[in-house]
Amino acid sequence: MKLRRFGRTGWQVSEIGYGMWGMAGWTGSEDAESLAALQRSIDLGCNFFDTAWAYGDGHSEELLGETLRANAAKKIYVATKVPPKNRCWPSKREFSLDDSYPPEYVLEYVDKSLNNLGREALDLIQYHTWEDGWLDDPRTQWTIEMLRSSGKVRAVGISQNRWEPENGVRAVRSGLIDAVQIIYNIFDQNPEDELFPACREKDVAIIARVPFDEGSLTGTLTLDSKWPKGDWRSTYFVPENLKSSIEHADALKPLVPAGSTMAEMALRFILNNPDVSTIIPGMRKIRNVEANLSASDKGPLPAALHEQLRAHRWDRKPTAWSQ
Ligand SMILES: NC(=O)c1ccc[n+]([C@@H]2O[C@H](COP(=O)([O-])OP(=O)(O)OC[C@H]3O[C@@H](n4cnc5c(N)ncnc54)[C@H](OP(=O)(O)O)[C@@H]3O)[C@@H](O)[C@H]2O)c1
Repeated sequence: MKLRRFGRTGWQVSEIGYGMWGMAGWTGSEDAESLAALQRSIDLGCNFFDTAWAYGDGHSEELLGETLRANAAKKIYVATKVPPKNRCWPSKREFSLDDSYPPEYVLEYVDKSLNNLGREALDLIQYHTWEDGWLDDPRTQWTIEMLRSSGKVRAVGISQNRWEPENGVRAVRSGLIDAVQIIYNIFDQNPEDELFPACREKDVAIIARVPFDEGSLTGTLTLDSKWPKGDWRSTYFVPENLKSSIEHADALKPLVPAGSTMAEMALRFILNNPDVSTIIPGMRKIRNVEANLSASDKGPLPAALHEQLRAHRWDRKPTAWSQ
């Protein structure tokens, strides 16, 4: 597993990290399977884990806490998130700081996450939604400075809303934050336009999330794909989105190198970008952990294929169903 520098923190993190939403939020999760997959990832060199209080109201954090205790001798970087107080994903322009992240509420949730994880300090705490407008409220800066000086948090980041890479550029330029978490994959290349250059300028780490576009970039979805009621994917892959996602993914199939998979090509595409500090595929199964972590050994794609894939950029705007 190759390591990359995590922005100005200087941490050396695995270039493939671990996304922990599915194991405590999606249907079909089994704790025993998830714990085995987490352990396998550590054995294979993964040292960066992204969780959130909202993933099962602390359950994903508890699974990570158990894994940390079983691997106490290893340096493992823990990133988690404070849920918005109004529990609305994504945030909207009109939400105030009091609706979403009043200072005392943020501090309370840091304590809840520390408790779930069994740690005295978090490596990275992230706002689970973000509005650049919150920078106009002086309590945002106060809260972030308070978090750092409390000793409970080593770094602070924002997890940006889907398909709004521009809504975070001010936060990066403000110098207040250490990391951004953003959707970046073969389709969603637009963070390259403004966000990534700002991150380079300010030495802010980039966590590339949703590398498989929630599943379509694994090449396994079909028009008959269905999810149980209550699984958020049933509200995201509405017929309109499922159809266009499959059409866009099908167009990539002829480009998958012989002996490879679309999922591996999707991860290696992201590895081509040196701005990215770590990629966090969502995983619950050992076989997916092994496949995804091995992408690091294979490395970035050959330049010609990377260039061909760049033409598959698909710019999308938030919709009623995009969440
Ligand atoms: N607002 C936010 O802050 C936010 C929002 C979304 C995601 N995230 C973070 O980003 C992480 C990644 O996003 P995501 O999990 O939503 O989506 P994703 O990584 O794009 O896709 C996850 C899906 O891909 C499947 N998969 C993984 N590896 C595979 C492989 N090699 N072959 C075939 N299928 C494979 C997973 O299956 P299994 O689960 O069955 O293993 C799961 O169904 C999350 O876990 C979370 O940590 C943050």
